[in-house]
This record gives sequence, structure tokens and C-alpha cells, in this order.
Amino acid sequence: MLDFIFDKPQKREHTAVVILLDKLSRLEDERLAKKVGKNVIEALKNVAEAEEVKDSVDSVLKCYHGQVPCLAVIVNDKLPFKAGQHLYQRLKNYMNADIYAAAQLSTEYMEKFIIGMENANYSFDKYMTKKKPEDFDKLETVNFVDFKKPNMAKVGAITNAVRYARDLGNEPANRLTPYEFIKDVERLNYLDIDVEVLDEKAMKQENFGLALAVAQGSCNPPYTAVLQWHGNPKKKEFDCGLVGKGGIYDSGELSLKTANGMRSMKQDMSGAADVVSVIKAAALQKLPLNLVAVVTLVENMPSGGAYKVDDILTSMSGQTVEVINTDAEGRLALADALWYIQKRFKVKTLIDIATLTGASQAVFGGLYAAILGNDEKLVHRLIAAGSETEENLWQLPMNPEYDKWINSSVADMQNIGKRGFAGTATAAAFLQRFVHKSTKWAHLDIAGCECDEKTKVSTGFGVMLLHNYLEKLC
Ligand code: BES
Ligand code: ZN
Ligand code: ZN
Repeated sequence: MLDFIFDKPQKREHTAVVILLDKLSRLEDERLAKKVGKNVIEALKNVAEAEEVKDSVDSVLKCYHGQVPCLAVIVNDKLPFKAGQHLYQRLKNYMNADIYAAAQLSTEYMEKFIIGMENANYSFDKYMTKKKPEDFDKLETVNFVDFKKPNMAKVGAITNAVRYARDLGNEPANRLTPYEFIKDVERLNYLDIDVEVLDEKAMKQENFGLALAVAQGSCNPPYTAVLQWHGNPKKKEFDCGLVGKGGIYDSGELSLKTANGMRSMKQDMSGAADVVSVIKAAALQKLPLNLVAVVTLVENMPSGGAYKVDDILTSMSGQTVEVINTDAEGRLALADALWYIQKRFKVKTLIDIATLTGASQAVFGGLYAAILGNDEKLVHRLIAAGSETEENLWQLPMNPEYDKWINSSVADMQNIGKRGFAGTATAAAFLQRFVHKSTKWAHLDIAGCECDEKTKVSTGFGVMLLHNYLEKLC
């Protein structure tokens, strides 16, 4: 983590001077000139004139004052996370930065801004054996001069959780098997999170019929993890139940994906990574809430023992499912997890998050995740939470017609609707058959949002959003 401090100007070697502005004319501010020095301001104003820099968000002025690099950046007042990210990119090659504000920035804004900076300070390079010291980002200390100190415990909890989700997502499936995932998550008990593990035998006893069918083609056996955070021990009920899709790898199985379609399918467990990370954040921050999460970790692989197209499976709920396509496996594993969490914990509010359909990626191109659910209030709260964390959700309809499309002629339902027709909504219709009418439920389809399109690095999309939603319940 970067070292964020709130101190007087450090003026050490290799320190950049940075001014955050809301508009260029702020450079005229006398108090600012007093703080950073008249010469610096004059030099920056000259650059603005010479380069005809526009008075718009993300514009940047840069000059040297002696050896000292000086930057003035117009920060986005609406997108603090993005503004923080952008600033990190500009500063990553300096060791230290003294940051001054000429704009009115609330502590709430600064919390988000700092989280944005820290989230940008991430790289997944542990397997790069040839990386030289000079190839690493240099930024270490970021000093905010004359800022009111925001809630750094909260910042630390959130950035830690986002990093955790990304690390899990980036780890390839040969290194993070269902067992390795479980072993990693088990360590969270150091934070007083109660972690319980169901192995394949226990899953059989509990009738995870659909999840086990998905997993049966892989030589890596499946696991289920149940995480509980009791931040409000006086209360008996859970404030929220969370379920995440844990596709350790999704090859498509016998309905095999193309080589290209398989790219980034190591990240098909991003939903599971998100929910364990959200529980981690809650525990780090000691949120006074009771939370429970269930993740089933399965690998969808072809083999002689794999489940097949035309198979008819029996779910934990007792409902039967005809397999039309073995690549529609996420909803199978989720269905049992949803049933299990409701049966065992009687959660009144339930949120699942999953890289569920290519259709969602095709529609939103990674700029939005789809949200569907049976409770408008819950859906709207999540959309609002996401707009505050700059993780956009867009609601799709739960039309009863979609539910009819998954009726089967030989079982209670089939695992896909009509090819090429409303794939995200039919997947949600499938899940809804495993949600009790009395449970308030929302489903987030984050396909396309879980990894950066260019670099394929995990984004941790959803962690901040869910954390924000939960924090508002406190
Ligand atoms: N894991 C995929 C969905 C996915 C696609 C996530 C692209 C992230 C990026 C899911 O299991 C899947 O394969 N879905 C199929 C369903 C189809 C067979 C009905 C799909 O979307 O093609
Ligand atoms: Zn699939
Ligand atoms: Zn999948």
C-alpha cells in the first residue's frame, strides 16, 4: 500500500509538487501561491498559456521548478475514484508527492480519491521473473498538505478487500484450484470471520446435485465455503446473505468453448472472490452487521466422467434440470448455493454476484453490470450504491415470459433458454426458481466487468459496491 500521510510539506528529494484544481482560474488564489510558492504558480500559468491547456476535467499542467516536478491537475468533481486513478498514473514514476488542494474537496471525496489512487497502485507481476527494479512503479509516499484527514481505517479496509479479490481473480487455475481457494479463505478466521468448509463428501450429503454435476469432469474436487461475520452478536438474524459464482475454470466442458472464448475463464470465480472480500472488508472495519456468504468452487472441465448434454440432474431443492448446454454451468452451481443459504440461514435479503452470461458482456461491454431481482427497493439501493462507487449497474427486466422459456419437456426446467434470446434475463429466471418468494433477492451479472479488457487483469468489480450497500445498512 502507498504511504498516505497528512503532514507539512516534505520537500524531500524526488518529490513532486501537485496541485488539485477544480478550474484553472484557481491558480490566481493568493493563499495557494503562499503555500506552494509564487514562482511555481507563475511557471504553471505560463505552461497553461503556452500550451493552451483547456479548463476541463483531467487537464494537466506540468513544469519543473529547478529540479522539482510541479503538476496542476483539474480533478473530476463527480468521479473521485477515477480522478485518483488518473493522478496515480501521473505520479507513479516519482517517489514522493506533496499534494495541495485549490479546490473544495470534502473528506468523503478524499476517501474515494485515495482509494482510487491505491487501486491504481496494483500490478499482478509475481510470475514475471525478468522484471527489473527500474520496471516497478516508484511512488511510495503521498503527502496531503493541509487536508482534513479522512477515515483511513475505512480506506484501508476497502483497498485491502479490493486487492484480495483481484489477487484471487488473477491467480491462474493451475495455481488456484478449488482447494487452494479454500485454504486461502480459511485464513480469514484471523479476523474473527467464521469459515466453514464443505468438501465433496459433505456436499454430497447436503445434496448439492447441480454443483457436483458441474464439478465431476475435473480431477480437482469441488468445495463449498461458508463465511459468517457476526458484527452485531446481539441480533440473531443476518442482515444480508451473499452468494458468489466460483468457477475456478470454465472451459465450457463438453459444450467446449473456443480457444478465444476460454481466455480469462480463470476469472470465472470473480463473484466468489468478491463476496469473500466483502466479508473481509466488513471484518477489517468491524461493521456492526451480521453477514453470511456461500461460495461453491467448481471447475467446469471435459473428461470421460464429465456431465453431459441431455443429462437430467436433481438439485438440492428437489427440482430437476435438463442440461442443454454444459457451458451454462454457473447457474447450476449458484442454484444449489442459493438454496443452501436460504435453507440453513433463513436470510431475508440475498444478493448473488456472478460472471454468468456472455450476453451481459455483449450488451454492456464491461461498462455496466446487469442487475435483476424480485424487489425493486433492493435493486434501486444497489444501483445507487454502485453509482457512488463508480461501478455502474443497469437493470434488466424479470419478465415472467422469460421464465417460460426455460421449461423443459422432460424435466422441471432446462439450463438455458432460446439461443441468442435474452441470455442474461433467462439466466436470472433460472436462478429465481431457487429463490423463495419471501426472500428479497438481487442478482448481479458482472460478466465483462471482472477483468480489464486490455490487460486481462482482475478489476475487483463489485467489492466496493457491495461494501457500500452494506455500510449503509449500519
Ligand atoms: N462464464 C461464462 C460467462 C462469461 C462469458 C463470463 C464471458 C465472462 C465473460 C458462462 O458460464 C457461460 O459460458 N455462459 C454461456 C451460457 C450459454 C451457454 C447459454 C454464454 O454466455 O455463452
Ligand atoms: Zn460457462
Ligand atoms: Zn462460467
